[in-house]
Parts: sequence; structure tokens; C-alpha cells
Amino acid sequence: MNPASLIPMAEPIPIHWAWFDVLLIVTFAAHVLFMNAMLGSAAIGLVQAVRGRSGLIREVGMKLPPLLALTINLGVAPLLFLQVNYGNFDYVSSVLMGGWWLAVVFVLLYSYYGFYLYKFKFETMGAGMRLALFGSSVLGIVYVGFMFSNNMTLMLEPGGWHSYFDGYAGFLNWRDPALYPRFLHMMVGALAVGGLFVALLGRHQGNDGFVETGMTWFFRATVVNLAVGVWFLVALPDRVLLAFMGKNLPASLTLAAALLSAGVMLYRGFHGDPRRTAVWAVITVFFMACARHWVRTLYLAPWFKIESVPVTNQYGSFYLFLGFVVAGGGLMAYMLKLYFKSRQGRA
Ligand code: HEM
Repeated sequence: MNPASLIPMAEPIPIHWAWFDVLLIVTFAAHVLFMNAMLGSAAIGLVQAVRGRSGLIREVGMKLPPLLALTINLGVAPLLFLQVNYGNFDYVSSVLMGGWWLAVVFVLLYSYYGFYLYKFKFETMGAGMRLALFGSSVLGIVYVGFMFSNNMTLMLEPGGWHSYFDGYAGFLNWRDPALYPRFLHMMVGALAVGGLFVALLGRHQGNDGFVETGMTWFFRATVVNLAVGVWFLVALPDRVLLAFMGKNLPASLTLAAALLSAGVMLYRGFHGDPRRTAVWAVITVFFMACARHWVRTLYLAPWFKIESVPVTNQYGSFYLFLGFVVAGGGLMAYMLKLYFKSRQGRA
């Protein structure tokens, strides 16, 4: 079977594809930053609790429901932009994963509910029950992340889609050697940014213990992630790897910028300043998201060129969208201003 026959035809798009790609990368970077803060700090709190120090898990547990809500909301935006430009690949991979993909909704609900129970029933629950609930909720989040890595890699390889016909259920992308380092890179990154979040929390609350624990996790996880990143790079197909090694100049420069930024971030982290380190972490995640986008473009090159998708040049809805972004952003800024003012009053 010719795998190309399994790729649906691309639908026309209303405006130039670059708008959607930029919005996809920016919103994905925001999604991943919140996911990292949520999952990373939860995992660090859990490890500390298992070691008998439960101050951090309690503090972090109070922040998890809003952090998870923001992660999910900021995931919707890239999902929409992804479907506009790459829907003919992403819809297929979602369908091919079958039950594994559908289960994401239920597992996410379980974890969400688990974090809420942890927060609001903290006093009335036994310590063992609390730890079990928290631990299983963190595991649920890891499952969701793994399903995303499966989906995002499966969509890139129509050559492997025929496996669907070998069985009656959905399948995961186990046969892709890049899946493992890619997922690990995301998870270790979550520990690093989660550590930074813990350190920022400590700085905000004047808790030096949190600052030290958070910065230690940040530094160690980032050093480990440099090695995992190299594994990820060499696990990519040769043509993608060579493109990053100089054959494709913009892709190579993007990766170089991401690595340079990671170096500055590590340097800042070494000097123990959480705020400046956080600024460089945001810059690094943005450049890494750009490099990840190059991975997608290079993988899909034999099957699809985004430039070939017809554009209808209907800019009306886009201007409406921009108007809502500006007006919505203004309203949110106003709401936050009122919120902080009322908090000052209460204090
Ligand atoms: C809260 C649990 C979640 C976790 C731990 C999580 C984690 C991840 C990870 C690790 C990736 C990168 C996968 C890879 O490239 O290998 C990813 C990508 C993505 N996530 Fe999430 N995610 C979560 C929830 C969501 C939700 C609820 C949505 C949508 C409503 C969402 C939308 C997306 C999209 C669209 C991408 C891919 C963006 C792109 O390819 O540019 N995520 N997520």
C-alpha cells in the first residue's frame, strides 16, 4: 500500500500559513511552560514527601488545580492551530491511536479531580490516602504527556500508519526510536522548570529551603537534559539530523540559538538567582519549541509542503480574532488589577 494514499487532502486555509505556525509555536511554548511548572513541581513535592519532608507537597498541592486548568486552557490554542495547518496528519494519528487517545480525557479528569480533592480535603484525609491520591494523579498526568508524544510523533510518519490494519484497536508509536528520548526530554525539562517554579515560590514566600531545593532540581535536571537532548538528536532519522548539523541553515541556527540560550540559563541557575533564570528559561523553551517545529517540518517534507496548501485570503475572521485577543487581554489585565487591589485591602 502506498502510505501517501492514507493522507487526507489538505483543506484550504483563510490566511497565510505562517500566521498559524507562529501562533502554534507561541501558544505551544506557553502550554509547555505551565505543564512543566505543574507536573515538575508536583513530582518534586512527591519525591520530597516520600523522603519524609512533606512541607513542599502541601504548598505545591495548593497551586496545582489552577496550574492544571491553565495548562489545559493553553493546550486548546495550539491544538486548534495545529489542526488548521497539519490537521490532515494530526487527525489521522489521533484516530490511529484509538482508545489510547480517547482515554486521555478520562485520565485527565481523574488527575484534575485528584488534585482538587488533595487541596480541599487535605485536613480530613489520612496521610497514606493523600499520598496515594497525589501519586496516582501525577501518574495520570505523565500518561497524558506520553500520549501527546505518541500522537505528535505518529503524525509525522505516514509510512508506519498501515500498522492500524494489523489489529482492531488503536496502537502506540513504540517502534519509533525517537519517541523515548523525545518524551524523556519533555519530562526531565518539566523537572527543571518545576524546580524553578518551586524556587520562585520560595522567593515569594521568603522560604530559603524551597529556593535551595528548587534550584538544585533545576540545575541537576538541566544538566541531565543536555545528555537526553543529544540522545534525542541522534535518534532522529539521518536526513533530519543532518539538516540540524548544517545542511539546513535556518534549522541549524534555531538549534544553536536554543543551545546558547540553555547555556545562559544554566549559568544564571548556577548563580542561584531564580528570577533571572526564569527569564532565560522562557527564552530557551521558546527557541526549543521553534527547533521542535523544524523537526516536524523536516519529517513531513517528503509528504507535505505547507506552502502548497491553497489560501483563500479571507482576512476578516483573522482581524476579528486579533480584536478579541487585544480586548480579552485588556479585560484580563483589568481583572487581575482588581484582584490584586482587593487582596491588598484584605491583607
Ligand atoms: C495536563 C496534562 C498535559 C500534559 C502533561 C501535556 C503534555 C504535553 C507534551 C509533553 C507535549 C509535547 C509532545 C511531544 O512533542 O513529544 C504536548 C503537546 C501538545 N499538547 Fe499538551 N499536555 C497536557 C494537556 C493538554 C491538553 C488538555 C491539550 C488540549 C486541549 C493539549 C494540547 C497540546 C498540543 C496541541 C500539543 C502539540 C502542539 C504542537 O505540536 O505544536 N495538551 N503536551
